[in-house]
Amino acid sequence: MSDPWWREAVFYHIYPLSFVDTDGDGYGDIQGVKDKLDYLVWLGIDAIWLSPVYESPMIDWGYDVTDHTGIDPLFGDLDEFDELLEAIHERGLKLLMDLIINHTSNKHPWFLESRSSRDNPKRDWYVWKPSKEPGEPPNNWVSVFSGPAWSWDEHTGQWYRHTYLPEQPDLNWRNPDVVEAMMGVMRFWLDRGVDGFRVDAAHQIMKDPQNRDNPPTPPGYVDPYKEMGEYGKWIHVFDRGQDDVHGIHRQMRKLADEYERDILTIGEIHEFDPTHWIAYYGSDDELNMPFNYQLMVAEWTAAGVRKAVEAVEGVLPEWGWTNWTMGNHDEIRVASRLGDRGARQAAVLLATLRGTPFLYYGDEIGMLNGPSHGHDPWGDNVAFLSRDGCRTPMQWHPGNGGVGFTSGEPWIPIGPDRDHRNVEIQKGDPLSFLAQYRSLLALRRERRSLRLGDIRFVDTEEEEMLVFVRSSDGESTAVGVNFSNRPVQMRRSGDVVFALGDYESHPESILLGPHSAVITDTSEGDE
Ligand code: NOJ
Repeated sequence: MSDPWWREAVFYHIYPLSFVDTDGDGYGDIQGVKDKLDYLVWLGIDAIWLSPVYESPMIDWGYDVTDHTGIDPLFGDLDEFDELLEAIHERGLKLLMDLIINHTSNKHPWFLESRSSRDNPKRDWYVWKPSKEPGEPPNNWVSVFSGPAWSWDEHTGQWYRHTYLPEQPDLNWRNPDVVEAMMGVMRFWLDRGVDGFRVDAAHQIMKDPQNRDNPPTPPGYVDPYKEMGEYGKWIHVFDRGQDDVHGIHRQMRKLADEYERDILTIGEIHEFDPTHWIAYYGSDDELNMPFNYQLMVAEWTAAGVRKAVEAVEGVLPEWGWTNWTMGNHDEIRVASRLGDRGARQAAVLLATLRGTPFLYYGDEIGMLNGPSHGHDPWGDNVAFLSRDGCRTPMQWHPGNGGVGFTSGEPWIPIGPDRDHRNVEIQKGDPLSFLAQYRSLLALRRERRSLRLGDIRFVDTEEEEMLVFVRSSDGESTAVGVNFSNRPVQMRRSGDVVFALGDYESHPESILLGPHSAVITDTSEGDE
């Protein structure tokens, strides 16, 4: 059996509101994505993950859907979508849609019906419960965005559950009609020709049927959610990831596998313990991959990165394949988290680790996080968690205007780093982020070992040096990254095929400058 296309592909995540606005209303649109496809081909991208373009009141900027099979007029219409898909396929690229399954908008016709009366046929499409005590929500669950995960509906005298905003009521996935409706949505887009889905909040859909309270985190407990305000105060044993979530993922996979072409389903699974995370692969019968966020939370040292990669590789079954990412529309941008040096090292790792890379738009030019502008509702609840900063418009040109994003007033102000972190300036600079990303992706495309090879770490005496070798079918590629701010020696083997920063090449060794990295062709030799 040949490897499915998505193992070898490099993905580019587009947040369409902020990519290119072609009608001057300040919001990016579908035509804008289409206009930039040749740029993506030039960069070396194979596939796009498109954040939602569905009809939405935009309270959570498209993640609150009112029609899963309709395009919001802000972005265009279905005809334009079809044209985009055709243009994507003409260039040999693929398209992943974002599939929002955990909830709908509270303006969705399903919810309007559901909340209209207790005996409405769609009442059970959402989760309604009585008060625990008079005036008290059914349990202690809190929303990811803070505040109770329940809102009171005056009209029918019950609470409805929402993992996110009150404007995003949770669907009841234990109702077979809901399952059927969402499978219909998948079919709608697959029949139109899309190549797969990024499944939003995929692990959140099944909660404890008995609605038991979550236990509080004990003192000293280090939770990956500790940065998340109120949500981080509880251990989320009952409000997500219940066992029957796997059955739903199996149904989704089965449907995708009915199609003759390879479809990719990749789940947003915020599970940070690799031994639990691995369960989301099932026996290769659930979503094809859970998203792997380990590099985003890894300590940025040679040991920290190696530990993160080995933890994932260590649990993957032989048939398993992972993915790596450094950012998305929910996270602080990598260049702001790690600084430029770290972000450039991250580019080297994304292009060379074993697993499908996912790049977030603008990271290829090292865009920095902007300030909060009060658009993200999460930021209203927990100010430092505002995601406005990672959603600023893509910077195509320098200058004081719309930087090639818009001719109007951008919905989020353009970042202050526009003059240096833009495509036009960086295209002409061989040492820019953009030029380096492009060379790295070209190298990955050229070298099968980087795309599909196995991975082996090499122990070195220098603890701040990370060295690993990728090999496949007689080709092998070594990667060395110096995480320290002093020169470090690496045993030499093969010719240097890519370098980040300074290095000196000697017959037996390579001296890497501070924070530098080299990639060598070791096919003939031995690292
Ligand atoms: C995860 C998405 O990535 C995020 O942007 C959104 O706010 C929530 N799910 C709710 O859909």
